[in-house]
Formats: sequence, structure tokens, C-alpha cells
Amino acid sequence: MSEAERKKVIFSGIQPTGVFTLGNYVGAIRNWGPLQDEYDCIYSIVDEHAITVRRDPVKFRQQTVEGYALLLACGIDPKKSIAFIQSHNPNHAQLSWILGCVTQFGELSRMTQFKDKAAKHADDINAGLFTYPVLMAADILTYNADVVPIGDDQRQHLELARNIAVRFNQRYGETFTVPEAYIPKVGARIKSLQDPTKKMSKSDDNPNATIFILDDKDTIMRKFKRAVTDSETEIRYAEGKDGINNLLTIYSCATGKTVQDAEKEFSGFGYGDFKAAVGEAVADWLEPVRTEYARLMDDKAYLKQCWTDGAQRAFRLSNKIYAKACRKIGFVDYR
Ligand code: AMP
Ligand code: TRP
Repeated sequence: MSEAERKKVIFSGIQPTGVFTLGNYVGAIRNWGPLQDEYDCIYSIVDEHAITVRRDPVKFRQQTVEGYALLLACGIDPKKSIAFIQSHNPNHAQLSWILGCVTQFGELSRMTQFKDKAAKHADDINAGLFTYPVLMAADILTYNADVVPIGDDQRQHLELARNIAVRFNQRYGETFTVPEAYIPKVGARIKSLQDPTKKMSKSDDNPNATIFILDDKDTIMRKFKRAVTDSETEIRYAEGKDGINNLLTIYSCATGKTVQDAEKEFSGFGYGDFKAAVGEAVADWLEPVRTEYARLMDDKAYLKQCWTDGAQRAFRLSNKIYAKACRKIGFVDYR
């Protein structure tokens, strides 16, 4: 196949550490489904990344199954795309070792996510937490992915993956595609509803800070009603109005309207009515995901069949690139 005929390859991943948040959805996953027609897409539940923080094995196994079901519920079609669980394809961890040997200690020390997580889990600053971005680079490079759809917080990791690819290619000859980040213009960093200077996160201690994509309508409405705003009255996107900016961004993504149109629509409204409208829009937007998730979780045999098939396809595809990297670096061939 000529270069022009080859569809570009997309890779992205999400950790199975609980129900996905509205931040995950807006910043990343909502884009994954629509990309499936134009690209060859590979989407992974990255369980190996998740064990960099200590987890209860029983709960973790359940969360991985739920994460996989959520991925499909969010519109990933396991026939069109490769949808699989990271630990089912050994090439990620294998390539990660090789890439670790072309990554500098200093580079990894500068990763802000490492610094944040090390501060949060000071009693368990394990080597996996430190080399996490190398595994992420391996995830991407082992498929020669061209494009990686992610939220803003993964920008630095993607930049490192690019540097690793360039360095490997320079040292050993052309092997890896240098991937591009695909970060949405609106919604790349959805903020906590309780502290709109912080990003919305799965692991926030305050249950009102985060919308989970399986929350029912009453819960969604209640959380938005309590969302922290400011002491002004005007609904407009402006410096210093983090809470309102966040709500306008969310409303815009849920409805497909621009932020400017949303400002016009709510001109003269009070904050209370505005928050209720955002809640309504988000609840309507997420409703189909909830319904589809419930349907899928009722059919575990189907889910298992999908992830088994996904793992085989992922393995086959990544084998070629992994083998090439082994050859380039000077490992003896045995095949
Ligand atoms: P994680 O839950 O850390 O595995 O993140 C999965 C994806 O969601 C990544 O592409 C993140 O960049 C994205 N993401 C996580 N939190 C947010 C947020 N608050 N706003 C936008 N994107 C996010
Ligand atoms: N590190 C990403 C996060 O926490 C998840 C991830 C792992 C990923 N491997 C990836 C995202 C490869 C994109 C591509 O959000």
C-alpha cells in the first residue's frame, strides 16, 4: 500500500481507576468515537499504568472490566477499532524496557505528573511511577501511531514520547513514527466544580467536585447547583472567572454551541438558572452512555470476546514494530 493510501494511526489510553469523569469525556474520549472513520484507531484500557499506585486487586479487576465497558459505551466500536486491555499485549512492557535505555533520568525527573503523584503518595514513590512516561511512549510507538488524542495534562508526556522516538531514530536509524498530539481547542482541561483552579479528577476527595459519566440526572443537577463560581453576577468568559469559564466550556461541549453563543443565550440570567441549564445539558448528553453501559455490563461474554479479539489484533500489529526495534538495537534474531 502506498503512503497516500495508508490511513493514519491513532492511539490513546485511559486508566481503569474508576468511572470516567466529565473531564476524561470532554478532554479525550468524546473525540475518540468520531475519529474511527477517518483513522485506524487503537484504544486501550491501560491497566499497567494504573498499578503505579497501590490498588486492591479485586476492586482493580472489576474496574478494568468496567473501564472496558465504558470505552465501548462511549462509542468505540470494537469492529472498527482495536479496543483492548494493555496488559494483554506484552509488547508494551517489552518495548518500554528498550525505550527506557534511551531516556534520561533528568527528563523523567522533570515530569510534573510524577512530581504531583510522588507528593500525593509519598509512602510509595516506586520505580514504575517514575518510568510511567516511558511505558506511555511504548504504548504509542509500538503501533507507529501518527496521532494521539489526549487532554492538556498529557501534553508533557507526549512531548517526551516524541523526543524518545526522534532520539531512537537518530541513534539506530528510522524506526518509529514521531507522534502528534491531538488536544481539543475547547475543553482540554475541565476544572473541579469545587475548586475551579484545579483539574477535575477521578480521585478528588470531595464528591461534589467531579461529575462521573454514569451519574444519574439528580446527582448531576445537584453537583452543578453546588458548583463554586464567583461573587459577580455576569455570565461571561473572562480572566479570573474560573468557575463560570468552566461551566461555559462544559455547556459549549455538551450542546455543540460556541462559548460566545452561550454567553448571549444566558445574558441577563442568574447564576442559579445558568447552573441548572448546564446540568440539564450534561445529563441529556451523558444519558445514552449510561444506557449503553448498563446493556454492555449485562453481557460479560460479549465484552470478553471483544477484549480477547482486541488483544490478538493489537499483538499482531505491534509485533512488527517491536521486532524492528529489536533488530535495530542489535538483539539476535530467533524467529
Ligand atoms: P486518565 O484518567 O488520567 O487516564 O486520563 C485519560 C484521558 O483524559 C487523558 O487523555 C487525559 O488528558 C484526559 N483528562 C483527564 N482529566 C481531564 C480533565 N480534567 N480535563 C480534560 N481532559 C482530562
Ligand atoms: N497517561 C495517560 C493518562 O493518565 C494514559 C495513557 C497511557 C495514554 N498511555 C497512553 C494516553 C498513550 C495516550 C497515549 O491520562
